[in-house]
Amino acid sequence: MASTNLLFLFLFILLSSSANSARLLGEEDLIATTCGHTLYVDLCLSSLREDPRSETADLKGLAKIALDISLVNATKMISHLTQLKSQNDTSLPFDSFFSSCMDDCIDEYQEAAGNLEDANDALEKNSLATVDSLITAAMTDSDTCEDGFGDKEEMESPLTEKNREFSNLCSNALAIATLLG
Ligand SMILES: *[C@@H]1O[C@H](CO)[C@@H](O)[C@H](O)[C@H]1NC(C)=O
Ligand SMILES: *[C@@H]1O[C@H](CO)[C@@H](O)[C@H](O)[C@H]1NC(C)=O
Repeated sequence: MASTNLLFLFLFILLSSSANSARLLGEEDLIATTCGHTLYVDLCLSSLREDPRSETADLKGLAKIALDISLVNATKMISHLTQLKSQNDTSLPFDSFFSSCMDDCIDEYQEAAGNLEDANDALEKNSLATVDSLITAAMTDSDTCEDGFGDKEEMESPLTEKNREFSNLCSNALAIATLLG
């Protein structure tokens, strides 16, 4: 008997709490429900909320904004890399191997930016499979940049964190675009 009561109590709590969250998130905050489907929820919330367009965007609008955010990040990455190179930062090992890794990374991020621009066009046309493969390609570009440093044993990538952040933004954009399917 007692365990049946407990079961009902449990079900009651479960049902009322999910009804509450549906009311709080589902209807009132599309950003929160949408970000709930991504792998990097905090990053999703902070990056989308920084963009004033998010407030009135529908799901497709949020997917576009997430893609734009990834694209801007790729462009910033290109300037970051260019700056690192020109700074001639003495904390970085500027040998020819390192310089060629940095050049490769600039190329990879130029490709990534192109892939994300194409993904935006594909999203416009609701070609979700194309959006998926283009965002995945952009993430691969960033992985290729990161992996380049690993070709020399004692070399450490100075870009690990920024590459990861870019990848996480792309992952979120991909997860949001997938919700449209
Ligand atoms: C890319 O976005 C992340 C998350 O907002 C940020 O921390 C990072 O600095 C950005 N990358 C560049 C190169 O600005
Ligand atoms: C960086 O500075 C050193 C010493 O000033 C110089 O020899 C080297 O050529 C510079 N490298 C680049 C990539 O500018």
